[in-house]
Amino acid sequence: MKTEGGSDGAKRRAGERAAAAVEDGDVVGLGTGSTAAHAIRAIGRAVDDGLAVRGIPTSFQSRQLALEVGIPISCLEAVDGIDLAIDGADQIADDSDAPGYGALLKGGGAAHTREKMIDSTADRFVVVADASKLSGVLEKPVALEVIPDARTIVADEVRTMGGEPTLRDAAHKDGPVVTDNGNLVLDCAFDEIDAPDELATRLSSVPGVVEHGLFVGMADAAYVGTDDGLEVRE
Ligand code: 5RP
Repeated sequence: MKTEGGSDGAKRRAGERAAAAVEDGDVVGLGTGSTAAHAIRAIGRAVDDGLAVRGIPTSFQSRQLALEVGIPISCLEAVDGIDLAIDGADQIADDSDAPGYGALLKGGGAAHTREKMIDSTADRFVVVADASKLSGVLEKPVALEVIPDARTIVADEVRTMGGEPTLRDAAHKDGPVVTDNGNLVLDCAFDEIDAPDELATRLSSVPGVVEHGLFVGMADAAYVGTDDGLEVRE
């Protein structure tokens, strides 16, 4: 069932439960967004208590928070692998009878390119969210990180696929959102996404698209916080 507006308590329950799964010596992918931030803070507290981990941040934002809470950080080039990645989602496909069950929409924080690199590399990827993110079918816009020069040709191609692209504007200043990689974001509305795997393949093939926010078949588990509890889906 889809509910709107998850509470911070629900996000915290999900994030902290995922952080509790981090083991001594782990290399941990540190996701982006307010739910993943709860996990990062909880890992920071565990580090204060003696847990030895290295964090691989998925964004400037998660890197800053990791530094603030005392998590030693590293980068993809410097590690042999990632044991666990903990990351949020903008929407989770929740109908177990539908194709694409468990697919995610990400990119609300414009960090989905690094998130996909890190989440897909991890031995285990746990998505953390509040219950408002569950949806029978994915229907929020798909975030595309695009090379700036390719903005208009990618937008034209998205329209031929039946999507409606909108350049993401920065809320805090005039001008577009610029990603950590120096690119732009097109939010592409496709209405209901019945076959996320097919759309993912088509979007990946468009020249100028760096990465899209559809994560299909990637999450190993979802920790979904509610106002009074937590649901673990393996
Ligand atoms: C960033 C993301 C975030 O994980 C997603 O937007 C969820 O954020 P929040 O936990 O704040 O709702 O994909 O690119």
